[in-house]
Amino acid sequence: MAFPFARYAFFGMALMAWPLEAASVAPAEDDNTSAAELGIPGVTRIAVGGLSSGADFAVQFQVAFSETVIGAAIFAGQPYGCAIQRFPNDTMEPPSPEVPVCKGCPAGKTLVYDHCKVNSSVVEARLLAAVAKNYSSQGLIDNISNLTRARVYLHRGTTDSVYEEGSVAKTHDFFAEFLPASQLLFKNDIPAGHGYPLPGSKPWACGGRLPMQNCDYDGTDAALKHIYGGGLASPAEKASTSNLKWFDQKPFYGDKDVTGLARWGLVY
Ligand SMILES: *[C@@H]1O[C@H](CO)[C@@H](O)[C@H](O)[C@H]1NC(C)=O
Ligand SMILES: *[C@@H]1O[C@H](CO)[C@@H](O)[C@H](O)[C@H]1NC(C)=O
Ligand SMILES: *[C@@H]1O[C@H](CO)[C@@H](O)[C@H](O)[C@H]1NC(C)=O
Ligand SMILES: *[C@@H]1O[C@H](CO)[C@@H](O)[C@H](O)[C@H]1NC(C)=O
Ligand SMILES: *[C@@H]1O[C@H](CO)[C@@H](O)[C@H](O)[C@H]1NC(C)=O
Ligand SMILES: *[C@@H]1O[C@H](CO)[C@@H](O)[C@H](O)[C@H]1NC(C)=O
Repeated sequence: MAFPFARYAFFGMALMAWPLEAASVAPAEDDNTSAAELGIPGVTRIAVGGLSSGADFAVQFQVAFSETVIGAAIFAGQPYGCAIQRFPNDTMEPPSPEVPVCKGCPAGKTLVYDHCKVNSSVVEARLLAAVAKNYSSQGLIDNISNLTRARVYLHRGTTDSVYEEGSVAKTHDFFAEFLPASQLLFKNDIPAGHGYPLPGSKPWACGGRLPMQNCDYDGTDAALKHIYGGGLASPAEKASTSNLKWFDQKPFYGDKDVTGLARWGLVY
């Protein structure tokens, strides 16, 4: 049976790829020859970002690879290591295939599924920070001292029904254990639902669960400006789809049923 996480991770990734789908068709699943070279020029200014499970992933990536990653754009994401961590106030549940891993649960018990999204008052950011420091001191992740220079943008729409009120605030609190307040921007007053708040001509209303929402606020622009500072080029009128290149994710996804990564990724 496929590990259920794959379903949710794929959901997050697939939504991100949606507007690009018309650009070109992915190579075949078993195509081993047409992988585009990534051609990323240097790795000194890499930032990560995403929505929902994509944002969860971005948080993990920012923390684990803090020597390489200088910033993160978190549109509805949970704190580092949160999904599997038992907190003192967590309700214990009988074993469930949806929550196969729990750190700190007694034998034969597990966590409420998605406790950091639906029951976030139990989450203790300081405990998660201690876990990250512990992993760092064992050399399991990059030296966490690098995280102090990261610039992190977080967003939660006020009508998001998937990440309850207070949940993304815990992600903010986690990063606040490492970064000065001036490097953290938490935007939580836009009436967006569970999606990217964007201005302009999209036909999608602000609210609900569509991945892009016309909220008269440019969340991605705000995130990029927060992470990279001034001097960014203005957005192009139209994306140049010829600059979209497929790349092979196979070397990275390990057990596909667990990681849920697609066979091919797109780079712009
Ligand atoms: C691609 O590689 C896999 C093993 O990695 C192999 O099973 C498959 O046949 C290859 N596909 C082609 C078209 O050569
Ligand atoms: C856990 O619950 C107790 C009792 O309701 C409360 O006093 C305490 O503040 C809670 N701890 C956290 C970290 O929320
Ligand atoms: C949330 O946690 C509290 C204990 O802090 C528990 O009483 C409650 O049942 C939990 N709610 C859900 C939806 O899991
Ligand atoms: C640190 O990690 C080790 C190995 O995973 C574990 O045994 C230990 O309890 C952890 N310590 C803290 C303070 O979390
Ligand atoms: C991490 O970096 C700090 C500052 O350079 C250093 O003091 C510490 O020993 C390093 N930790 C590890 C586990 O390498
Ligand atoms: C990451 O931290 C280590 C240890 O503190 C330090 O030597 C290194 O310069 C840092 N890397 C960056 C890119 O800041």
